[in-house]
Amino acid sequence: MKTVEVREVLKDLIVLRAIDRDIRYFESLWEIPEGITYNSYVLRTSEGSILFDTVKHNFSEEYVDALRRVVDLRDIKYVVIQHMEPDHSSSLKALSTLSDFRAEVLGHPLTAKLVKSLLGVDVKFRSVKDGEELRLGNIALKFLHTPWLHWPETIFTHIEEFGALMTCDAFGAYSIAPYTISDLTDLTTQYVKYMRKYFANIIGHYRDNVIKALDKLSTLNLKAELIAPSHGAVLLGANVVKEVLKLYRSWAEGVPEDKKVVILYTSMYGYNEEIIRKLLSTISRDNVDVRVFRFTSDHRDNVSDFLGEVIDAKVIVLATSTYDNSVFPITKYLLELLLSKSNVEKPIYLITTYGWNDAASRELKNILVKSKFKLSRELSVNSLLTETDLQKLDYMSREILTYLGVS
Ligand SMILES: Cc1cc2nc3c(=O)[nH]c(=O)nc-3n(C[C@H](O)[C@H](O)[C@H](O)COP(=O)(O)O)c2cc1C
Repeated sequence: MKTVEVREVLKDLIVLRAIDRDIRYFESLWEIPEGITYNSYVLRTSEGSILFDTVKHNFSEEYVDALRRVVDLRDIKYVVIQHMEPDHSSSLKALSTLSDFRAEVLGHPLTAKLVKSLLGVDVKFRSVKDGEELRLGNIALKFLHTPWLHWPETIFTHIEEFGALMTCDAFGAYSIAPYTISDLTDLTTQYVKYMRKYFANIIGHYRDNVIKALDKLSTLNLKAELIAPSHGAVLLGANVVKEVLKLYRSWAEGVPEDKKVVILYTSMYGYNEEIIRKLLSTISRDNVDVRVFRFTSDHRDNVSDFLGEVIDAKVIVLATSTYDNSVFPITKYLLELLLSKSNVEKPIYLITTYGWNDAASRELKNILVKSKFKLSRELSVNSLLTETDLQKLDYMSREILTYLGVS
């Protein structure tokens, strides 16, 4: 059953949430067993309503029904399209066919073309400039161009009366979250994890643009007491907003958690698995936060979760094998994503195993040397560990502990 829920966030600001528990791979890429919501917002003013974004097209019917319960469609004066990715824009197509829908569509100048090429609809469109203001009745809006969060046409909208920032994908999270988070204690570790995972998967590639957008917000010194993203919970209250802005900056800058180690390994027949088992026997301590992601014959962790956890790791350990005279294929894929989404300065320890020619070691070193990661130490093992390998592994493990400040 397709559900679009309606809740009042504030008097005159209503969220319509399409609840997607069935999706398996967001963007056909990211594993999200926790599900996702697509949030659209209705802002009521004394002179009519404004709609912010829509929801994914497979919810269009339920969305239009829900919208009709909230507002007379003739009363919607504007639809602000803050981002054209179809999970937010595609129900505009259904709306545009309704005879009682007469709203003008507002967006970044690039959005006009995308409405045509992605949705194939003709709408009354007006582009908005960076910093442009719009007043409707008792409400004043300010549009901010925030390019590449995570498409070129992304904008935020500030509603002065509520100190509200409508941010579409930025500050969003996976999961079917509570409607609002209005207290720092409700900004749970679990929710922050879904937010960080979303950041890493979707926005991480554009870290520099995140910093630019955060700087822009602080320069403008806008009243910020509410963030309404298009996935996840509405963030309410100056404290919560401040904390989330801080988290975003630290993820964008790649600030590591003090004692966090992320281990990624693949293992076809158990050689790398045995090496990691030995490494873990040394580095697993109560005060070390070790996260292991493995790709083996009986288990595959989610790539989406790996990226979400690695973003604030202090140290990365990568263990993999040579396969067909190259790097094990899954590792190539993971490394490509890692470098695209989370290429920040941090130490990486490399372990490779091989049968007759360690091509994986050579190739991985060539890739890593061009990245921001610092290859701290490398261990190449001819499948079974020798006494010398064991000594080197022990040295590597102790060096990791020293780097973490754990003795
Ligand atoms: C299908 C397959 C292809 C392999 N290709 C190579 C290769 O091209 N060069 C090499 O030196 N070893 C190769 N090996 C050997 C593995 O790299 C080696 O046994 C390694 O230790 C396996 O580690 P794992 O069980 O942790 O994945 C191959 C093994 C398999 C099963």
